[in-house]
Amino acid sequence: MDREVKRLDQNNGLILAIETSCDETAAAVISLQREVRSNVVLSQDKLHAPFGGVVPEIASRQHLKTILPVVEKALGQAKTKLENIDALAVTQGPGLIGSLLVGVCFAKSLAYSLDKPVIGIDHLQAHVESVFLDFPDIPFPALALLVSGGHTSLFFLPARLAYRLLGRTRDDAAGEALDKIAKFLGLGYPGGPVVEKMAEGGDPGRFEFALPKMKDRSLDFSFSGLKTAALKIIREKGLSSSHPDLKDFLASFEAAAVDALLASLQLAIDAYQPKAILLCGGVARNRRLRVHFEELARQTGVVAYSPSPEFCTDNAAMVGALAAEKIRFGHPIPPVFQLDAYARSNAFQE
Ligand code: KG4
Ligand code: ZN
Repeated sequence: MDREVKRLDQNNGLILAIETSCDETAAAVISLQREVRSNVVLSQDKLHAPFGGVVPEIASRQHLKTILPVVEKALGQAKTKLENIDALAVTQGPGLIGSLLVGVCFAKSLAYSLDKPVIGIDHLQAHVESVFLDFPDIPFPALALLVSGGHTSLFFLPARLAYRLLGRTRDDAAGEALDKIAKFLGLGYPGGPVVEKMAEGGDPGRFEFALPKMKDRSLDFSFSGLKTAALKIIREKGLSSSHPDLKDFLASFEAAAVDALLASLQLAIDAYQPKAILLCGGVARNRRLRVHFEELARQTGVVAYSPSPEFCTDNAAMVGALAAEKIRFGHPIPPVFQLDAYARSNAFQE
């Protein structure tokens, strides 16, 4: 397979990348020089909205229906054809196993029939890679804070393609907590963007939330306590979607979530003295988080990087970008039939 990788490197080939780890069916075409030729994302938000969260069985069935048209659209927008594709890349995990299997089986079948290599990609590493799509020259060492609907993790990056897990959520992910509060108040799904919009102009100091305290200066996160405290306030004050205090409540909750995220990052900056800090994942779209993240960078004298909004939420461009980088670094590519999906991350166990 080394011979294959060398050939790919020389001919400035194209990668077709596929991402189906949760409720977005996504495909992208990206060159080995990491130029994004197309980036198609088909969201299933409307299907899951009545349930206030992702229903795994609905998600995997929908991926089955949409994966082919999404891939065809990505090829069409890139003005290319399947026969011009030199390698495939696909998200292996972590994520919803049924959803992952749709993407993995599709990519494996395509790779096998085209006699091309397929590169399995870790979803969390792909989110971190999304920052490098916009900023290829980030200095090392760096810290990366990944905040999404399924994950809240902090990584130490000593060099390119090296990841050390420093902390992760012990319960809910930050995006999940926002989604659950929105669901409880009947505000819609996904909750993060709705909460951000409704919290605009609200007083973030109006409601107080105790921040989670980890023992032993652990860099783990916890959001279930914040969520429970929020639900208690909602019940006690009788808050609803039309309540006059809702704006202040949502602004206060959003601010508490941002403080909890950045508290761990601040501890890690002190301990690891990075040159750069990276913010990624769907919640990285949040303006309050971005503003405070940049403020923290200024205070601590490091450089802050976060991707453009289209690369924050799940997409296949970040999957293809990581595959291109793995090829450039000569990472081994296992045979097609060895590729498998995994629901839980095992890439970062220490
Ligand atoms: O990265 P992503 O697309 O999927 C996962 O890998 O989980 O992240 C989705 C999460 C959802 O929880 C959604 O509510 C949140 O990102 N999100 C936001 C915003 N946009 C999306 N949270 C806060 N503010 C936003 N503007
Ligand atoms: Zn994600």
